[in-house]
Amino acid sequence: MTRIRPLRILPGALMLLAGGCDDMSKQHKENPYASPRSAPANGVAGRVEYHDAPRPAPALTSALLRRGRSEYDAFCAPCHARTGLGDGMVVQRGFPAPRPLATAPTHNATPDQLYAIITAGQGVMYGFAQRIMPDDRWAIVAYLYALRRSQYAMLADMTPAQRATPP
Ligand code: HEC
Repeated sequence: MTRIRPLRILPGALMLLAGGCDDMSKQHKENPYASPRSAPANGVAGRVEYHDAPRPAPALTSALLRRGRSEYDAFCAPCHARTGLGDGMVVQRGFPAPRPLATAPTHNATPDQLYAIITAGQGVMYGFAQRIMPDDRWAIVAYLYALRRSQYAMLADMTPAQRATPP
């Protein structure tokens, strides 16, 4: 009976293994995070267009406010909640709670200051320069005023005609 002696075949097995490893290390690898090989649509290799050139605030219209509300509900409400109270879903899952927007230190901030917070973030809140276009950031700023007004409006803020008309 022929006995295969482990020690005889071991060196061969090791060589095979080593060979296999060698081949794998020579394989071509794709690194999805490497800088792009070809220039993107904006023509500048390795650069992403952030649409972040300063833009003046657009005129205040009800269309702008509606846009602001839908952008706020999509991007801000997850933390700040649709009410602005700061108990959105992400906060309920453990993210630090922001102060209620209507009474936070920035509640009487200028539009420029609010725009800057949305663009660059504040504290643990990340900025939205890469996610929200400038005009939409302005729309959110406008809506932040409307949101506060909706919670802290005084009767004196309404005209007699508005008071006479039920919502
Ligand atoms: C991931 C959660 C999160 C999202 C999304 C988020 N925020 Fe915030 N925001 C925070 C937190 C937390 C703070 C408090 C940050 C601090 O001061 O440390 C904050 C602070 C602020 C403040 C300053 C409030 C103050 O304390 O005076 C404003 C204004 C604000 N956010 C607006 C927005 C707007 C507008 C959006 C949407 C474009 C948005 N945030 C999206 C978490 C978030």
